[in-house]
Amino acid sequence: MNYSEKVLEHFMNPRNIGEVDNPDGIGQVGNVNCGDIMRMTIKVEDDTIRDIKFKTFGCGAAIAVSSMVTEMVKGKSLDEAVAINRDDVAKALGGLPPKKLHCSNLGTDALKAAVNDYWRKTGRPEKVVKLEDEHLEQEDGETSACCSSNERGCRQSESGDPAKATRS
Ligand code: FES
Repeated sequence: MNYSEKVLEHFMNPRNIGEVDNPDGIGQVGNVNCGDIMRMTIKVEDDTIRDIKFKTFGCGAAIAVSSMVTEMVKGKSLDEAVAINRDDVAKALGGLPPKKLHCSNLGTDALKAAVNDYWRKTGRPEKVVKLEDEHLEQEDGETSACCSSNERGCRQSESGDPAKATRS
């Protein structure tokens, strides 16, 4: 499979890995097709994303997408951030192979889930946006969708933390 130099560069040197301290919003989504999991945590000030970090249990494209999404939205307003779609991310990465486009949905949807979490917590459920793809949007610590399918041998950690999950 051919990846752009930008994808390879973000995969080799991903930005903003981890979790922000005391996140204002947490988004975790699992891809129902491949079983991969992405989690984004955000710090919000004045309805602007001041900090964002990710943890991804998934393919190389998903890691590059996660890294790119965090770079694209840091410093943006929440409304601007949720307007970014998978095509914007794929374009910023210099393109993705067609078979890997769903990986970019995981990135934008994990972000949207984190922003939705923030809007729900701050009493603005009317701002909640629809996700682009069919995922299980997970509450913090919930069991992952991928564990039940075990399609790629994915096992969720007992804590629900994708960083501690294992793949056989
Ligand atoms: S193959 Fe699952 S996110 Fe890429």
